[in-house]
Amino acid sequence: MRLKTDILVIGSGIAGLSFALKAAKYAKVLIVTKKDQAESNTNYAQGGIATVTSPDDSYDLHIKDTLECGAGLCHTGAVEQIVKNGPHLIGELIELGVNFSREQGKLDLGREGGHSRKRIVHAKDLTGREIERALLHNIGINKNITVLEHHTAIDLITEHNITGIKSRKNKTCFGAYAYDEINDEIKTIISKLTVICTGGIGQVYLHTTNPAIATGDGIAIGYRSGCRIGNMEFVQFHPTSLYENKVTTGEAQSFLISEALRGAGAVLKTPDGAEFMFKYDSRGSLAPRDIVARAIDSEMKKHGIDFVYLDITALGKNAIKNKFPYIYKKCLSIGIDIAKDMIPVVPAAHYSCGGIVCDLNGRTSLGSLFVLGEASMTGVHGANRLASNSLLEALVFADKAARVCKSEIKSSAALPVGKIPDWDSSGTDNTEEWILISQNKNEIKQIMSNYVGIVRSNLRLHRALRRIKLIKDEIETFYKKTSVNRELLELRNMAQITYMIIRSALMRKESRGLHYSTDYPEQKRSFLKDTIITNETVK
Ligand code: SIN
Repeated sequence: MRLKTDILVIGSGIAGLSFALKAAKYAKVLIVTKKDQAESNTNYAQGGIATVTSPDDSYDLHIKDTLECGAGLCHTGAVEQIVKNGPHLIGELIELGVNFSREQGKLDLGREGGHSRKRIVHAKDLTGREIERALLHNIGINKNITVLEHHTAIDLITEHNITGIKSRKNKTCFGAYAYDEINDEIKTIISKLTVICTGGIGQVYLHTTNPAIATGDGIAIGYRSGCRIGNMEFVQFHPTSLYENKVTTGEAQSFLISEALRGAGAVLKTPDGAEFMFKYDSRGSLAPRDIVARAIDSEMKKHGIDFVYLDITALGKNAIKNKFPYIYKKCLSIGIDIAKDMIPVVPAAHYSCGGIVCDLNGRTSLGSLFVLGEASMTGVHGANRLASNSLLEALVFADKAARVCKSEIKSSAALPVGKIPDWDSSGTDNTEEWILISQNKNEIKQIMSNYVGIVRSNLRLHRALRRIKLIKDEIETFYKKTSVNRELLELRNMAQITYMIIRSALMRKESRGLHYSTDYPEQKRSFLKDTIITNETVK
């Protein structure tokens, strides 16, 4: 089947949905999403949106905290852009119907690691879900927006797919091929502009706070089409995911214990009840995430334990139940009353600071292609993201992109519709070896968690590279002769993402932000730059 639209949006988190609502004022928008429309990384965001709204805060302080956390690699222009545009975009969300938590009528502000002020606008401990609810409601009543659920993007359509059009150095995107899981067919979606908003990569690790959809599809798709990819070595591990021994339960996602708990006074302890964070940083349990995650990793190794504890009991039962009802309920469901008991926690992969490189409007190096949200590398996060800056980044860049897309749509050349071929699945067949997919997925997760985690070394990275290269090549061979389905597409993307992470990590011969190498424990001036790869430089 062939579909034509003005703008194709791939992904349905806060970036894709807020962009779509704005773009629908001047264009027809088609959103494709892998599962149902509410299933996105945004939906699981507990913390909130960092924004300057209080009189004892300032743009300068928020910018300073962001730059400090980013360890020298933030792009100052991008940081200023998100900080200064935050307050009015929070106002827009409120107008759209988002119910943020309030105290005596004013926005209730939380605090998280690395923030020098209370500035996290939130909806109890389910901020992402509340934002998605309001955005999806507005999407549902907008006649210019169509949402196709259970559609997985396979690859972008560029000159490369079209005979009779010469492949230029600066390629253009004409839409994407997408696999429709319900009808088991591949659709050709032709669009004047395409926006990748596919979220993160957490599923390449064994423990992740990200949902099962977070397999890095957009970044892998962009890479295959020749986009510039930046800073993939900077994978943020959230210090505190609930320890439930997921390896034995086999679930894809670890439950997040929001940093807002530490903002409200919770402290990290070893099993003997000793507080340990002040040994590592004067900010204690509220130090930035890279420091806290490494400290936990070090305590776990030192004591030979599988987790540490987070103690929020001092806050008192009423305040805990009122501020963190979701976390309270979840913990109680597995027998932990967090008003009385300490919570077993372990770091888990949480956020990719790397992604497809874009400018201040979300524009990529490929013509007519934009990228927003976690799949992008805007320069905001540098080597380490400041907590709750990502929903803000997604909102602000979606707003900017929607503005430039308006003029871009008007000036866009006619699409070569007749010349765009449908997906060619000749030479592929159904296989009886689907078990290989889940086996490969598990292998990838094991390799990444064992060798490319919080603390890295040359030995471990090279070991990972050799293994991943073999798996990646095997998957590519399997892919070429097998009819596609979502699992296979995800597996192929995961293998390519891990390859990009390892190659980027090997290129950075220093320790900075989220990338810590025992071979190069110091920061080096010569590495005060982004790590950029393309499919030409890294095959
Ligand atoms: C959290 O609630 O701890 C997550 C917030 C974030 O990752 O920005």
